[in-house]
Amino acid sequence: MATTATACTLDNYLVLPDHTMDERIGAAREQLGRDVVILGHHYQRDEVIRFADITGDSYRLSQEAARAEGKYIVFCGVHFMAESADVLARPGQATLLPDLNAGCSMADMAEIGEVEDAWAQFVNLGLTSEEGQGITPITYMNSTAAIKAFCGERGGLVCTSSNANGAFKWGFSKNQKIFFLPDQHLGRNTGFGMNIPLDEMVVWDPYMLQGGLTADRLRKAKVILWKGHCSVHQRFLPEHVDKVRAKYPDIKVIVHPECRLEVCQKADAIGSTERLIKIVREAPAGSKFAIGTEIHLINRLAKSTPDKMVITLDDAGCLCTTMYRISPQHLCWALENLVEGNVVNQIKVREDVKHWAKVALDRMLEIQ
Ligand code: 13P
Ligand code: SF4
Repeated sequence: MATTATACTLDNYLVLPDHTMDERIGAAREQLGRDVVILGHHYQRDEVIRFADITGDSYRLSQEAARAEGKYIVFCGVHFMAESADVLARPGQATLLPDLNAGCSMADMAEIGEVEDAWAQFVNLGLTSEEGQGITPITYMNSTAAIKAFCGERGGLVCTSSNANGAFKWGFSKNQKIFFLPDQHLGRNTGFGMNIPLDEMVVWDPYMLQGGLTADRLRKAKVILWKGHCSVHQRFLPEHVDKVRAKYPDIKVIVHPECRLEVCQKADAIGSTERLIKIVREAPAGSKFAIGTEIHLINRLAKSTPDKMVITLDDAGCLCTTMYRISPQHLCWALENLVEGNVVNQIKVREDVKHWAKVALDRMLEIQ
């Protein structure tokens, strides 16, 4: 598509100060009207999320992408979220990610070739058929479209932090074993919550021979967890919970299920970003919360609920650097280009991948 000198060079935007962006984003937004919907994940910074038409966790944003009208979906989140939006969007709609460098280190930990290789070994060991009679593959939303398609094609599905429990029940209704990708912590927390003993949940390490597991352990396992994690959430430790409780005995500790099992077990509640927000908002004035999740969400929640004490679970606070890549300058650049008819940073999932990824996402949208 043709580009114009006025709106198209990102470098011209990146040197501009944040405060100069507000008016321009607002004006572009107004000109685009109902042609555009801006979706914003809760980890986005204030200067960006204030322009979102809809904010939410991964589950809610995928529902919104599926029902979005208009020509353009501008996704203020990370790459796997925009990919899912493209899979769920209607034909003719374009999904844009304002900065293509906004990835997810956890999603990068499961590469499709490695996953196919692991599956081939399961088939060789007689644990499953190629098509998934024996093991239900389930992938966390935080994965590439290719991994989602892999699961869809083998009778599996996608889940998010808000419906992992339902996805596990669904998986076990089909087979006695689940292969869960790529977050070992969400998988372990979910399995543990369903009373699956820890020794029946094994970790598949793609860099070790046969995942680092004996055939016997694989045979006995109810859940095979991929060796992936979120570097933001894995930083929270059980001692952080002890420390904050010692300082504030009446504090409630609430954490995202991407945190380690030892942290989740010490917490008062576990939930998706949307659920964590709801718990704080609905609590009586004077309540105190220490939250184990990304720092932008925590700071915004603290500001918007001044009648409660809201702090991060560890003193440092964890930033998701890839979510942070979406700046007001990138958003302004994407919107002003749309005004001029240029679709920049479009996320396009390959058609063959799209088909099975949609099967896996649709299955997810049908369960709770
Ligand atoms: P939610 O679906 O809970 O918003 O989580 C997304 C995510 O990436 C958390 O790290
Ligand atoms: Fe990925 Fe972790 Fe960032 Fe979520 S917080 S987008 S899992 S790196």
